Amino acid sequence: MDIEICTTTPYTDQKPGTSGLRKKTKVFLDNPNYLENFIQSIFDCLPEKQGKTLVLGGDGRFYNRQALQTIIKMAVANGFGTLLIGQNGLLSTPAASHLIRKYKALGGIILSASHNPAGPEGDFGVKYNIQNGGPAPESYTNTFYQRSLTITEYKLAKMPDVDLKRLGEHRFGHTTIRIIDPVSDYAQLMAHLFDFDRIRSVLRSGAVRICFDAMHAVTGPYAIRILEEELGAGPGSVINAAPQEDFGGGHPDPNLTYAKALVEKMYGPHAPTLGAASDGDGDRNMILGQRFFVTPSDSLAVLAANAHRVPGYRDGLRGVARSMPTSRAVDRVAEAFGIPCYETPTGWKFFGNLLDAGKITLCGEESFGTGSDHVREKDGLWAVLFWLNLVVATRQSVATIVRDHWRRFGRHYYSRHDYEALDAALGREIMEHLRGQLPTFPGQSLGRYTVSLADDFCYTDPVDGSITPGQGIRILLEPEARLVFRLSGTGTQGATLRIYLERYEPDPTRHDLDPQEALSELIALAEFLCGVKAKSARPGPDVIT
Ligand code: G1P
Ligand code: ZN
Repeated sequence: MDIEICTTTPYTDQKPGTSGLRKKTKVFLDNPNYLENFIQSIFDCLPEKQGKTLVLGGDGRFYNRQALQTIIKMAVANGFGTLLIGQNGLLSTPAASHLIRKYKALGGIILSASHNPAGPEGDFGVKYNIQNGGPAPESYTNTFYQRSLTITEYKLAKMPDVDLKRLGEHRFGHTTIRIIDPVSDYAQLMAHLFDFDRIRSVLRSGAVRICFDAMHAVTGPYAIRILEEELGAGPGSVINAAPQEDFGGGHPDPNLTYAKALVEKMYGPHAPTLGAASDGDGDRNMILGQRFFVTPSDSLAVLAANAHRVPGYRDGLRGVARSMPTSRAVDRVAEAFGIPCYETPTGWKFFGNLLDAGKITLCGEESFGTGSDHVREKDGLWAVLFWLNLVVATRQSVATIVRDHWRRFGRHYYSRHDYEALDAALGREIMEHLRGQLPTFPGQSLGRYTVSLADDFCYTDPVDGSITPGQGIRILLEPEARLVFRLSGTGTQGATLRIYLERYEPDPTRHDLDPQEALSELIALAEFLCGVKAKSARPGPDVIT
């Protein structure tokens, strides 16, 4: 095998964030060797790669296949033994995580910018996942970054492009390249966790109907195979099923704003029993009932409370975890069940240690991410199948399941307000200002509330003792409510301020309020404390979820 050693010069901006290296697609296209530099930096930091297996795939966005051809040649030149590549270059993030674990790969590269729009004007990203199937922790990504600052050459095998369309095996030098079905291993895993026979018979009877919106992204082929072909959901149950390089011009973020087609169906006449959507790379999920939206925080709590109804979790949960800004609804379930509940910083990688150590079974984030110990990523379709299994097992509507849950545990009204693409300096100033006030908060009265705790969240990992400071301003209030402020780590433009609002309501006669109304006092309080509207001269948040 002929290997070319290509010279290059370093870039200074290849620092991976919460979800790998995410940039405007243009940055990859316009800067020579931008992709090559980052990939070689990763490979240089993996001394044990010779002869090992690497999983490769992406969410199908613009530049996915082209980047993949480059990465294949580099992986061959760098001495990997086997490359497992999803057909057509596709692999959802959770499916990639599963493949890494199942085939004991050294790791995997997932090409995605998650829910961010794609195309020449959109975003592109590269994520590296480690041996346990989870996103590379900071100990890795810091070394990748350091390496990227000094890199002078990369290696490329002189070989033709690989036909990604056809399943099969190719051999180049010492490397075996396997183009595999991206769905089948994942579908087998799902069949093992959920009661496929029961779901199939209920779906076939027509007593339960589902609509899944793949948003023209990677989950289309997964949902068609599993929901329609294996479980017998009627044809057309999966909408926007064909992956497209620009996601059909859409924004593949499963929320009430962007999953328009689905929302119209679920709020219209003849709505199916369960509505769901996933994002670009298949790790996020949104769950809807008929005219009913399940907040991701509630979804996690409901899944935890009902896990025993599902075959894969019949023996109960070891523990649960949520990211700090996620509502504390799941904490109440954990308390009632007498199992531990961990609070981690934002980003899936913090769940990895807890899952590996067997401390938790379920975990989730308010940002439409839910998952379990079956993989080391959040998993969109898994959450949908979990809900489908619950609906089938209880024969109750989504709304009834959630309302019953509130009756039992109380309701956590919850919302997130995002101020996007703020001037970066203003974002920092707002956070600094809040941080400066922290010592004055405890005991202070704010309207009908009293501050019981105020801090900048600092996480001590219970498994390895590592400390992660500065994870967001937390203001806990009495009667039970909470405000959280943090800057996004995934935005590609300026700063995005996220304000998380939560209020606990135990009284069942007050469980039917509009969330924004139920939280109106806290919304005003948040502005009083951080002043983002005044300082940015904006009328309100850009996105409310
Ligand atoms: C956002 C979400 C976070 C999630 C991450 C990756 O990060 O808030 O929960 O883990 O995307 O999907 P943020 O932009 O807030 O840093
Ligand atoms: Zn995603």
